[in-house]
Amino acid sequence: MSSQFVGLMDLPAVPVFHGIQLFSIAFVVLAFTSRLFFRGRTLGKALPTPGGLPWAGPVWAVEASNIYTTFKAWSEKFGKLYEVKLFGQNLIIISDPAIAKEILAKKAKTVSDRPALALVKGSKDSGKYLPFLGNNDHLTRQRRFGVLINNYTHQANYHGRMLPEATRFAHQLLTKSDSPFMLVDQVCGRLSCRMAFGTPAPRAAISRSAHNFMQNLSPGGQITNVLTFLRHLPSWINSDKHNESMRVDIEDRVWYGSYDKAKAAYENGTLRASYAKYYFDQREKTGLSEHEALHGIAMMATVSILTLIAPLQRWIVVMAQHPEWQEAVQKELDEVLHGRMADYDDSPKLPTLRATILESVRWASPVPTGIPHRLEEDMEYNGYHLSKNSNVLACDWSMCRSNEYYKDAETFNPSRYLDPDSPAYKEPLTEFPKLQNHSVFGWGRRTCIGQDYAAIQMLVVCAAIMYAFNISPPTDPKTGQKTKLNLQELLSTPNVIPIMEPIDIDFTPRSDAHAQRLQEAYRSSQIQDAEQEEDECL
Ligand code: HEM
Repeated sequence: MSSQFVGLMDLPAVPVFHGIQLFSIAFVVLAFTSRLFFRGRTLGKALPTPGGLPWAGPVWAVEASNIYTTFKAWSEKFGKLYEVKLFGQNLIIISDPAIAKEILAKKAKTVSDRPALALVKGSKDSGKYLPFLGNNDHLTRQRRFGVLINNYTHQANYHGRMLPEATRFAHQLLTKSDSPFMLVDQVCGRLSCRMAFGTPAPRAAISRSAHNFMQNLSPGGQITNVLTFLRHLPSWINSDKHNESMRVDIEDRVWYGSYDKAKAAYENGTLRASYAKYYFDQREKTGLSEHEALHGIAMMATVSILTLIAPLQRWIVVMAQHPEWQEAVQKELDEVLHGRMADYDDSPKLPTLRATILESVRWASPVPTGIPHRLEEDMEYNGYHLSKNSNVLACDWSMCRSNEYYKDAETFNPSRYLDPDSPAYKEPLTEFPKLQNHSVFGWGRRTCIGQDYAAIQMLVVCAAIMYAFNISPPTDPKTGQKTKLNLQELLSTPNVIPIMEPIDIDFTPRSDAHAQRLQEAYRSSQIQDAEQEEDECL
């Protein structure tokens, strides 16, 4: 008996056991084994769950292209905090902002890690991709750098580039140089590259590499992200792996190429204000290796392209269906700005425009499932056990479409922020409604660091559209009637940030005079000839 104990516990041999010693050892063994057996159930009761098959979970009930709608449907059945096992991963889904705050913000210490991305090698610890870094030193340094460069750019008023780029974009819409959604892609990319590298030159290449990145990291983008065991297969069997190594090759070429050009420009004194210039000027102070800085700068450009295309597309689509709100915004612009185009510092005077932007983000959240935080320790919340290694998602779609928080939540209604009798109304109107601190930017230590950038870019670009155009859904060539847009269908994509396929929204100049004024604004912005894009892979 005694030797059996010793073997089990891997203890050094003890020649003689007295009763008290035996009792102590038995107690330790019991405590240890019961912790092993009941691990996961010691901190409270189990969360409600839709159940399903042992490893795969309730796969038959999942709406793969719009999984956030499934999460919302489950929240109505299983409550605002539930868990679901899907393909071996335990997901804890939060559908209420108060719970998200309690868990993701107040307990940030244990829930600020990220799950490893199955396809993207070293996603957590290679120091390359800030939004996917684990809770480690790379994260501390890169986040600090990200916050620094974003604050610096914000204080420098985006180097005066927002309005000229928005003017260029509106002018391109006027000349119909490309389809409207391609132009949305362009304006987001040009601004991101200007902020990162001081020039729009690498826009096309960075943008292409950003879209590839999104596909390969999204759970629904590649099968290996769902059936993660497939990553162990060689690339000649699993083509996702081959695809990923090609993606990384291209990304390296584009990211290193853009960075090296910025460095050369810095050395010959021609680099414009940008994240890169900030780094070269303050290299010692940032404490970053060149590898971290290069990836920090390029990743920031990548994230801001992807995250800003989505809300801009949504605003355009929803406004196209609401001419009454276009009229309200145009009235505000005309009254306040007397015929000039809006810039970042006009924001306090434009509450109606801000209300439409905020409402479009609420009505069609651009990050509808949220971004997963990995739980590093077992946790107890409100009597429930949340188990270590689970991925916690604050489902923004459920929160934004909650009738408890937003009266008549399915309806697009910007007046909820402008009507003093509405529960969502806040003063002063010079500040509210505002995009910053919205649940769409996430929670706790991993919350978005580009919130000011997002708010200013949305304001200036949407104002430029309303300055010159009335927008409407495409005309059906068969019936000659305007089509009714089905947002749910348009958003059907398995990607984390659902970017729409191009759609031909009609941009009609408000009048000849508006078109002419836009032409003049474009000419005087002096943007047309200088700094063309190098439309090739660097
Ligand atoms: C409306 C536009 C945007 C939306 C909806 C958005 C949303 C988000 C969300 C949901 C997260 C994850 C938060 C979490 O894990 O809880 C995030 C993280 C992040 N965002 Fe944004 N974002 C936007 C714009 C931007 C812009 C313009 C930039 C860059 C200038 C940016 C940079 C980042 C970075 C670097 C992270 C990673 C932070 C970390 O993991 O620690 N975002 N964003």
